[in-house]
Amino acid sequence: MDLSAWLKDTRLVVCVGSGGVGKTTTAAAIGLWGALQGRRAMVLTIDPAKRLANSLGLEQMGGEPTQIDLAGLPEATGELWAMMLDSRGTFDALIAQVAPSPEARDRILANHVYRAMADAFAGSQDYMATEKLYDLASDGRWDLLVLDTPPVQNALDFLESPGRVVKFLDERVLSWFTAPYEKERVWGGAFLAGTSAFLFRLLGYVFGKEFLDDFAEFLQVFSGLYDGFRQRHQAVMELLDARSTSFVTVCAPTVSSVEVARFFQEELARRGHPRGGLVVNQIHRVEAADDDADGVLGEAARTLGADLQPATAARLVARLGRAHARLRAQSEADHALAARARAAAHGSGGFYQEVPRIEGEVHDLASLEVVGQHLFGDAEEA
Ligand SMILES: Nc1ncnc2c1ncn2[C@@H]1O[C@H](COP(=O)(O)OP(=O)(O)O)[C@@H](O)[C@H]1O
Ligand SMILES: [Mg+2]
Repeated sequence: MDLSAWLKDTRLVVCVGSGGVGKTTTAAAIGLWGALQGRRAMVLTIDPAKRLANSLGLEQMGGEPTQIDLAGLPEATGELWAMMLDSRGTFDALIAQVAPSPEARDRILANHVYRAMADAFAGSQDYMATEKLYDLASDGRWDLLVLDTPPVQNALDFLESPGRVVKFLDERVLSWFTAPYEKERVWGGAFLAGTSAFLFRLLGYVFGKEFLDDFAEFLQVFSGLYDGFRQRHQAVMELLDARSTSFVTVCAPTVSSVEVARFFQEELARRGHPRGGLVVNQIHRVEAADDDADGVLGEAARTLGADLQPATAARLVARLGRAHARLRAQSEADHALAARARAAAHGSGGFYQEVPRIEGEVHDLASLEVVGQHLFGDAEEA
């Protein structure tokens, strides 16, 4: 199966999986591969490993799209951009976008209740990821977006997180609060009736009148934003379900990450999201040339024997033999776990790919390209 062809038909890749498996690496390698194919690729990342971020020039990136210098890769005809998710400030920018007027925007931004809520949402990377995704997708500067997701088991909920705001703003909930909540009426007391009036009086005792004034204003102005949030939520959901969107599940050959991958495969199917494939990353591989232990050790014995005391050479060769046996056992265990991951993806219609653990870390464009070559080598159907 040709993954380069898959990528050509894809405009959005969402990488999911548990932490530490190589999700960010995979997202970056996919973006780079896109740039090599002439695409204008944007990788929206959460937590790039420090060395990778540094060598890509992302250290002072601060939440703005940053173009990565591909001068070292003259064969890259496209562009590679990256952006680190900076959840602070995103919510204010969002309010500025959906507020019907500059006055409404300023009133909301200055509102104490809003500030408390914005702080709560700012801690939620998942929510901000979808907001950014919406912005990047509507921008038009990029024709390939790769989204790295937070390393949490419930990462798929991030997809629906704009829905949380929509639900919060749902007209029924709001009207329950706002209907009896014209200030005069509340404080005049005459029109207070029913549960909400009681609740507000109670809140007033607890938090004081100033809080209630802020809360009233917040609800009134915020309720006007409902349509804006709903439209964004709908647009993101449509984007995630589009045929040109692909979810790539990444895991490593560990029991826990394979279990998380299985969970994601099931959830993606249940939620009906388009599945691109499953990548098992960091598999220990014994190269074919090294697989013949007797040959390798015989050669080592001859080479070492020429320079060293026979007893020293024998000790070193024995040690090499144990290391070789360990690597082979590790490789077998890794492949068994990979097979388990693969079984979970069976029949999904996507691809299945294995990426070996490469020497050293993946910390620069050159090693990312190596990961890309493995990733975009001939893949199997899941
Ligand atoms: N195929 C690989 N071979 C060797 N090291 C890898 C490979 N994939 C990822 N790594 C390394 O593993 C570490 C975790 O990778 P990262 O992509 O940050 O994981 P995640 O985003 O899933 O937490 C990094 O140091 C990275 O360089
Ligand atoms: Mg990561």
